[in-house]
Amino acid sequence: MAVRYFLTAALLAGLYVPVCQAVTTVSVSATASHAIPTTLLLQNRAFQQVTPGDTSSLDPWVAVNGAELEVIADTDPVSSALPNSLQVMIPSAATGSVGVSNPGYWGINVNSSWTYNASLYYRFPSESSYSGTLTVGLESDSGEVFASNSTTINGSQTSWANVFLTLTPSSSATNTNNSFFVTVNGSEAAGETINFALFSLFPPTYKDRPNGMRIDIAETLAGMKPAFFRFPGGNNLGESFDTRWQWNATVGSLLDRPGRVGDWGYVNTDGLGLLEYLYFFEDVGMQPIMAVWAGYSLDGDSEPEDALAPFIQQAIDQINFVVGDPSTSDAAALRASLGHPDPFYLQYVEIGNEDFFASDSYTYRWPDFYGNLSAAFPNLTFIATAYPFDPVIYPTPPHYDVHVYQTPDWFIENAFYYDSFERNGTTYFELTDNIQGEYASISTNASNLYGTAAEGRFLYPTVQSSTAEAAFMTGLERNSDIVFAASYAPLLNLVNDSQWLFSVNVGDEYLPSTLPTESGSLFWTISRNSTSNDVFIKVVNPASDDQDVLFDLAFTTVASTGTLQLLHGGQNDSNTPTTPDLVTPQTSTIATGQTFNYTAPSYSVSVITVNVS
Ligand SMILES: *[C@@H]1O[C@H](CO)[C@@H](O)[C@H](O)[C@H]1NC(C)=O
Ligand SMILES: *[C@@H]1O[C@H](CO)[C@@H](O)[C@H](O)[C@H]1NC(C)=O
Ligand SMILES: *[C@@H]1O[C@H](CO)[C@@H](O)[C@H](O)[C@H]1NC(C)=O
Ligand SMILES: *[C@@H]1O[C@H](CO)[C@@H](O)[C@H](O)[C@H]1NC(C)=O
Ligand SMILES: *[C@@H]1O[C@H](CO)[C@@H](O)[C@H](O)[C@H]1NC(C)=O
Ligand SMILES: *[C@@H]1O[C@H](CO)[C@@H](O)[C@H](O)[C@H]1NC(C)=O
Ligand SMILES: *[C@@H]1O[C@H](CO)[C@@H](O)[C@H](O)[C@H]1NC(C)=O
Ligand SMILES: *[C@@H]1O[C@H](CO)[C@@H](O)[C@H](O)[C@H]1NC(C)=O
Ligand SMILES: *[C@@H]1O[C@H](CO)[C@@H](O)[C@H](O)[C@H]1NC(C)=O
Ligand SMILES: *[C@@H]1O[C@H](CO)[C@@H](O)[C@H](O)[C@H]1NC(C)=O
Ligand SMILES: *[C@@H]1O[C@H](CO)[C@@H](O)[C@H](O)[C@H]1NC(C)=O
Ligand SMILES: *[C@@H]1O[C@H](CO)[C@@H](O)[C@H](O)[C@H]1NC(C)=O
Repeated sequence: MAVRYFLTAALLAGLYVPVCQAVTTVSVSATASHAIPTTLLLQNRAFQQVTPGDTSSLDPWVAVNGAELEVIADTDPVSSALPNSLQVMIPSAATGSVGVSNPGYWGINVNSSWTYNASLYYRFPSESSYSGTLTVGLESDSGEVFASNSTTINGSQTSWANVFLTLTPSSSATNTNNSFFVTVNGSEAAGETINFALFSLFPPTYKDRPNGMRIDIAETLAGMKPAFFRFPGGNNLGESFDTRWQWNATVGSLLDRPGRVGDWGYVNTDGLGLLEYLYFFEDVGMQPIMAVWAGYSLDGDSEPEDALAPFIQQAIDQINFVVGDPSTSDAAALRASLGHPDPFYLQYVEIGNEDFFASDSYTYRWPDFYGNLSAAFPNLTFIATAYPFDPVIYPTPPHYDVHVYQTPDWFIENAFYYDSFERNGTTYFELTDNIQGEYASISTNASNLYGTAAEGRFLYPTVQSSTAEAAFMTGLERNSDIVFAASYAPLLNLVNDSQWLFSVNVGDEYLPSTLPTESGSLFWTISRNSTSNDVFIKVVNPASDDQDVLFDLAFTTVASTGTLQLLHGGQNDSNTPTTPDLVTPQTSTIATGQTFNYTAPSYSVSVITVNVS
């Protein structure tokens, strides 16, 4: 058993008392020191579009039965925002079903409980006397057709027309190796050329929202009870000036959304636009933390101060789209015309993203954006994205958004990061979503955090990385008077299990207790739900040895049993697609009381829930 120094509850009276002891004793105050804001998370994904000329412009479309395919810059595009079409040429000797198919995003889930909405636009670039059947459907990679539906089209249609057909599979596919196909009868259409644009295939969505969210993912997220959602995806505000996210390019008809190259290099179609995001937040019951583009792109370009005015106005328009009055704002009137006359809930607006990379220009961009936006929206709260006090910016930001991607050891060593921060009204939004792997603790190699797996980067989060993050999170909960939010990627894995443990088991009050040792390897944080009187004791052991702890709860009555939720595994265990349930939280009943012993296993996160009065 490790011998360690610890701070006793005397610290609360201003005394620092190092004591040598074998079992850590944790005294828990029955009186709360501060209220805990609820915390948590998120992340998401958009669609993609194609660009003519590139060899990859067809990906992942493939020809069916000898059709010749080409992505063209259409002379008469379906809309000015969507200038390209997929031109399908039916060979003159064609027979059978001829056309195109698309395997989706790594496959398509074919579920006979669902009805899918299929939609496309088509036109004949040259008028012809053709009339025939167009079929859309879903099939397996061995050609088994699960669903199909047809309509008649003809060669007099030289302007764009929409086809909308529903697909109801007769059976579910056993795997996701399935494709969506669009074909014509080759005997009828031999020699014809047809242009297609804006295909869409949607299963039912969460709350049946058009362009909405996958039900399974949205329900999983909702189950984690997230308090907020930061959007449009942090870094996704723009890698360059030309590709910056612009709210007005993401609303209205899909035909009017040009899409953009997102910050990770692939195309976002912006089918998931500002309005879809806002409905999603309402449907899940979480609040947005909305970013506005603030004159800086991640490639290093900053707009000069005298060029900022139109971007400040665009940010004002964006906020008005969310909360403005339709009778005084065109952007708000647009929202009303799209079906939501009432304002959406919005409290937090983040000015820029990762402006610590552009520290110098933020000294003028922050005051200009903050000054104008806070004058236009006095009720909103604004968040700065430079490092706290580096550079020093005025007016002093009410909040900072801090990003951390680090090693497990860093997270353990920094569990006290916020304890020394001055309590003066400035608070911090601790953002731990990883820009690539979506994990906070991303590597064991501090000198090459973004290296390869062989160089120490985690392919999947491990029990070691997760417990280290949990240790850090005990510091976030303890300092929740100044750390008002923390976010993480929403993938369903070990990390999120631990995240889930933290988010679902949180009280509304923080109970002071003996502080963990700053340089130690056992961490805890204790909160209480003041309505139900449940106390949540979260104990994190990110070390390789089991550790004993004695809890001493200063309540008059403490239940004799409590519930233990334990996440525990081997140092390098990971939940992966092939071992999705290797490490999952296990629930059991344990003996509790005003004083009780607990052994925190190596590499574990424990949540002990016990009722008090
Ligand atoms: C199929 O749909 C039903 C009803 O929505 C759902 O319960 C089930 O999980 C779905 N199955 C798959 C494999 O998606
Ligand atoms: C051909 O299509 C056009 C537009 O869809 C329609 O108006 C017309 O009636 C069709 N003609 C025939 C012969 O089906
Ligand atoms: C084909 O789509 C139409 C239009 O949505 C729908 O009314 C019809 O029921 C569908 N037919 C089949 C066989 O799914
Ligand atoms: C799906 O298709 C891929 C590529 O053809 C193949 O490697 C994989 O085994 C298939 N999966 C299933 C479950 O059939
Ligand atoms: C294709 O069209 C030809 C000529 O109209 C017809 O004989 C044949 O039955 C059609 N094939 C299918 C699969 O509908
Ligand atoms: C599918 O189409 C139906 C009929 O137009 C519509 O009511 C439903 O909302 C659509 N579903 C989605 C997810 O867009
Ligand atoms: C969005 O608005 C800006 C002005 O704020 C304008 O320059 C841009 O063209 C608009 N984009 C679209 C797609 O409407
Ligand atoms: C608004 O922004 C402009 C720069 O476009 C700046 O000159 C002005 O000081 C700002 N107004 C406020 C109130 O900060
Ligand atoms: C702003 O806040 C004040 C005070 O809380 C409130 O009276 C007012 O209605 C709010 N204004 C808006 C536009 O929400
Ligand atoms: C809070 O304290 C920090 C660090 O001492 C300081 O830089 C910051 O300006 C202070 N905030 C306010 C609102 O005084
Ligand atoms: C506290 O407990 C009450 C009663 O069980 C519950 O309704 C409420 O949601 C809980 N509060 C929090 C912050 O979880
Ligand atoms: C806790 O463990 C210590 C050492 O094993 C033991 O002396 C003590 O009686 C235990 N306390 C309780 C409340 O079980």
